Amino acid sequence: MDQKQITDLIQQMTLEEKVAQLLQLTADLHEGTQDQSQITGPMEEMGITGEMVRASGSVLGLSGASSIIDLQQEYMKNSRLGIPLLFMADVIHGFKTIFPIPLAIGCSWDLQLAEKSAEIAARESAAAGIHVTFSPMVDLVRDPRWGRVMETTGEDPYLNSLFARAFVRGYQGSNLSEDKERLAACVKHFAAYGAPEGGRDYNTVNMSERQLRETYLPAYKAALDEGCEMIMASFNTVDGIPASGNEKLMRGVLRDEWNFDGVLISDWASVREMVAHGAAEDDCEAAYRAIRAGVDIEMMTPCYVQHLPELIQSGRVSEALIDEAVLRILQLKNKLGLFEDPLRGADPARESEVLFCAQHREAAYDLAVKSSVLLKNNGVLPLDPEADIALIGPYAGQEDILGWWACVGVKEDAVQLGSAMQERLHGKLTIAEGCGIDTMTPDQLQKAVDAARKADVIVLALGEAADMSGEGGSRTDIKLPKAQLELVKEIRKLGKPVAAVLFNGRPLDLHGVLDEADAVLEAWFPGSEGGAAIADLLIGKANPSGRLAMSFPQSVGQVPVYYNTYNTGRPMDPSKTDERYVSKYLDSPNEPLLPFGFGLSYSDFTYGELSLTSHEMSAEQPLKVSVTVTNTGTRTGIETVQLYIRDITGEVVRPLRELKGFEQIKLEPGESRTVTFTVSEEMLRYYHSDLSYSSDPGRFHVFVGPNSRDTLQGSFELV
Ligand code: BGC
Repeated sequence: MDQKQITDLIQQMTLEEKVAQLLQLTADLHEGTQDQSQITGPMEEMGITGEMVRASGSVLGLSGASSIIDLQQEYMKNSRLGIPLLFMADVIHGFKTIFPIPLAIGCSWDLQLAEKSAEIAARESAAAGIHVTFSPMVDLVRDPRWGRVMETTGEDPYLNSLFARAFVRGYQGSNLSEDKERLAACVKHFAAYGAPEGGRDYNTVNMSERQLRETYLPAYKAALDEGCEMIMASFNTVDGIPASGNEKLMRGVLRDEWNFDGVLISDWASVREMVAHGAAEDDCEAAYRAIRAGVDIEMMTPCYVQHLPELIQSGRVSEALIDEAVLRILQLKNKLGLFEDPLRGADPARESEVLFCAQHREAAYDLAVKSSVLLKNNGVLPLDPEADIALIGPYAGQEDILGWWACVGVKEDAVQLGSAMQERLHGKLTIAEGCGIDTMTPDQLQKAVDAARKADVIVLALGEAADMSGEGGSRTDIKLPKAQLELVKEIRKLGKPVAAVLFNGRPLDLHGVLDEADAVLEAWFPGSEGGAAIADLLIGKANPSGRLAMSFPQSVGQVPVYYNTYNTGRPMDPSKTDERYVSKYLDSPNEPLLPFGFGLSYSDFTYGELSLTSHEMSAEQPLKVSVTVTNTGTRTGIETVQLYIRDITGEVVRPLRELKGFEQIKLEPGESRTVTFTVSEEMLRYYHSDLSYSSDPGRFHVFVGPNSRDTLQGSFELV
């Protein structure tokens, strides 16, 4: 259809037909199964009628080619004007082939593999009939108490923006209309959902507009610049106004400033939740605020369908606003080719061919290898495959390693660490759980201790359960559960070499593990091929290369802790820790336990001198910074060389360092490579107090190194 045909179609629609397009409900309501556990409240209480369900323009959460084909065909029979349904779902880190959780993907610093993972997720879900994925989630995070940190790529605006783009490219490809193996992407949650006070999910977000623009908004913008078709409003307030009713944010920033003309969807019930927030008296006011703010689709609550007609009749809302929203939705349906082919990619034969196929699993393996981060190694890793090994801990058993938001992934299909190690080791492997996630019986412990006694090396497989992070998964205690810390202590008493592997969805307070074990490998929730990847890393068939995309705190009391912080007027001199009136804690270092960008390898990399082409630069004359990196170890390995910059003086104070570039290089033993970064004036710009975005002439430091802490330093002047 062309634009004219779409506008003609809208003219033929009744007001009821139009508002029905603005409602999205779950499939269980459509199918009449009415599984009430799936929805926010009982159907009657929510005010949803069967008629609304039958008319609504999009469906949430249904997948499976034949179910979608049936529902679409049934719907089309009853659609007076032949307008097809849109099917959307949370395809977050894979559809059936599950990739590592996004925070782990962030730690790969591998944009190509990230893109590939999204492409595969799109291929699988498109065959299963889905049109739109509610991904990427690009909320910047600084607080590991928040369970949803597992869904993001971490704490850095630059890195998050690059990943946002990679995911969008992977989902959408370059021609969404023709390519039926791709999906429309929906970036979320706009805006700043990742900064809830206290790390408590759905909580208030309070920050200056400058901070919002500088740190939190860039990744959403990057996704949209990459052509992302949709955006989702967040649950939180932004400067006191819930995002779903926030005109300044939605009409102002998103539509007027950024010229976004794709579909804006609310989050689950977030329109109605404006009443609980205290931003709307009732559903009618909530509908009024949301439509004025520019929310096109209301997810899961019927404020629009019930109240927009009366708001139009009373003249408070103009029908043009509704037409605008309908236009965007129909344009998306049209772009996806649904008017010509309402079934699009849904194809049971293709579905059985591609879902969880060998090629997809291989990509999941590659990403799991690259996402794991070696946090410590006193030489116990890689394991000697001839040694007798005891694998102990809850993750030695059948715990879920897919993590939260695993879509239609089947936990039992995932390669577990125990079976993967069994396959690979020539010596003896004994497996004992030792404890559950947070339970331990004397008998369990005894079996584990016996197994450990007989072994040469012990591998502890520990972690949080999958549901301890994810939505609604905030915690105030971010240590490993007590039973597991107890297990570590008991095993440690044997005095044998211990390597720990961690499965978790957030940076943890690692005291009691990092200090106890000889080696620690952070595996996150590594997905379908997780066990195979981790086993290969443990035995040295693969070499760890992941780098933390989020700092690990010393303790929860230090949170939020992140690398790109300000200096304060009284920075602590680390050589004078007993000074009182400086910015510090009496009982903790200021630095995180493990900094952003950190990760070890089985190779050793040494950095030569930092060289700058000049100590002066200008907008016209950028400068180049180079360093030669050598693999002085005995194994081929990947090094992530990172570039950070500090603007020493600004009208607004600037962070101690900010990531501005990185390069991943693979080096053979003895091989050297020179990595060169160009520093341009554009990289030095920031938001001033009047929100103008520009650079200030003056002095800058430049840092290059393997992480945000251990860097070489140079300086230059911008003239
Ligand atoms: C989450 C979104 C998700 C939506 C639909 C909400 O509770 O916040 O991220 O896309 O549900 O499942």
